[in-house]
Amino acid sequence: LASLEVDVSNIEPGMTVTVKWRGKPVFIRHRTEHDIKLANSVNLHELRDPEEDSARVINPEWLVVVGVCTHLGCVPLPNAGDYGGWFCPCHGSHYDISGRARKGPAPFNLEVPTYKFMDDTRLLIG
Ligand code: FES
Repeated sequence: LASLEVDVSNIEPGMTVTVKWRGKPVFIRHRTEHDIKLANSVNLHELRDPEEDSARVINPEWLVVVGVCTHLGCVPLPNAGDYGGWFCPCHGSHYDISGRARKGPAPFNLEVPTYKFMDDTRLLIG
């Protein structure tokens, strides 16, 4: 199956870009210090799908998640919602800056695809 190489050198801190991989959107978020702190300040007991932020990233500065809402498959909007991450307009699910489901009907966190960094600026998804 196809892998996708992405040059992330132009993605500034605080920006999210969307790429297409295997027909699905994938969000790449260059996280700020604030984002990383926020992602790590969560009490896991508050999460419906408990996962440490550190288990969802390779490098904390970069969050890579499949942009498909785990409720019924809409594409959530970046930089939106109550938790600094994404908001799904279809039925009102909120995801945090680690892509974890926080509010609304989404039962699971946004999926983390298989990926790796080939060097400082090149990401290989898949
Ligand atoms: Fe996202 Fe229903 S598809 S909230």
